[in-house]
Amino acid sequence: MSQGLPGDPTVAGRLDQLHADLLQHRDYDLGFPGATDLPDVSALVPFERLLLNNVGHPFAPGGAYRLHTKHLEYEVIGFLADLFGAPLDNRHGYVTTGSTESTHWALWQARRQLAAATVYCSSAAHYSVAKAAELLRLRLREIPADERGEMRYDLLHAAVRRDSRHRRGTGVIVVASIGTTMTEAVDDVARIGAALDAAGVEPRRRWIHADAALAGVPLALDESVGRPAFMFTDGAHSIAVSGHKFMAVPFPCGVVVALADRHTGRGDITYTAAPDSTITGSRSGHAPLWLWYLLRHWGPAGLRARAEGARALARYTEQQLRGVGWPAWRAQPWAFTVVFPRPPQPLLDRWPLATDERGNAHVVLMPGVPPERVDRFVADLRDTVAAASGLLPGAMAS
Ligand SMILES: Cc1ncc(COP(=O)(O)O)c(C=O)c1O
Repeated sequence: MSQGLPGDPTVAGRLDQLHADLLQHRDYDLGFPGATDLPDVSALVPFERLLLNNVGHPFAPGGAYRLHTKHLEYEVIGFLADLFGAPLDNRHGYVTTGSTESTHWALWQARRQLAAATVYCSSAAHYSVAKAAELLRLRLREIPADERGEMRYDLLHAAVRRDSRHRRGTGVIVVASIGTTMTEAVDDVARIGAALDAAGVEPRRRWIHADAALAGVPLALDESVGRPAFMFTDGAHSIAVSGHKFMAVPFPCGVVVALADRHTGRGDITYTAAPDSTITGSRSGHAPLWLWYLLRHWGPAGLRARAEGARALARYTEQQLRGVGWPAWRAQPWAFTVVFPRPPQPLLDRWPLATDERGNAHVVLMPGVPPERVDRFVADLRDTVAAASGLLPGAMAS
């Protein structure tokens, strides 16, 4: 980029300034879960100037509009359906604008199937679940999460039982958080299913949506014993991931995969010559193109290696924080997220971090975070706290 002078009002000058500002913000970006280890994407440059619109149903080839990437979208859905254990003859899905739309779609689909359903999610679920329930006018029950952020299955069971007494035969929708936003705790879909069994909810009366925005792909790629259960084989009916989190697409997008026999559209639309089965009508054709390219570039082995590298950096970060006397923890061994008591405000002014009402803050060690950034953050925390009080919670600064 050409070097405009600061304050240069021309288009070039404004863009230069914007770019410089964004790069500066990136140097302090640890609080939000977007991977930044993009490979060379120059192969995608020729598509930049094409309007690519996957309007309508993802599997309806073409429809009326020909400039689309639905065949690549189909492959992206297939890759994730395989990864998440969806049956070969019973899979559906599409590329969304992100996990917010995916949750909205899953709840919409569930509501079309289940009479007078109630949505259950934990108190640590993403705020988009409550919003989708409100948009769809679905009753919402929040189930308390434990200290680390995982749903209390005993309380889920008790709530569903209590509700079933008054609302016999109605539908039960559970949104499981596969990596909560704040601590990356994982709700166990098999245990959710067992709680519903024990409460007498028959399989045809339930829908379990796994909101795996951040952790779905890296968790599914890990084959170690004890990995949390959240796949179709564990009882999920739909699973969603964001494309701009682990998969590093540099603009918001997501993928939702579902069991096809649970899916219903609204019939064919004459204008698009395709069934109406998605939340938005016009849909990005660039998002499937990027997702397809990155999945092909890394493949399962490359994706797994990225996840392992990020987890190693998360372990390192946790140790470094403890090393300066700042208590830090991870909700589960696969987490990229390190949680710790909220640091003093001057530090948060330099390092924008998400915080919660329990007094926690976190950093998320996504692929692409340079270890040097972690070292700078920990040193800044140590110095800020020392300047404020001379004391660190739990211990003296070394
Ligand atoms: C668990 C969870 N669900 C949903 C979302 C929303 O995802 P998106 O930004 O793709 O809409 C997030 C984002 O942080 C999240 O952490």
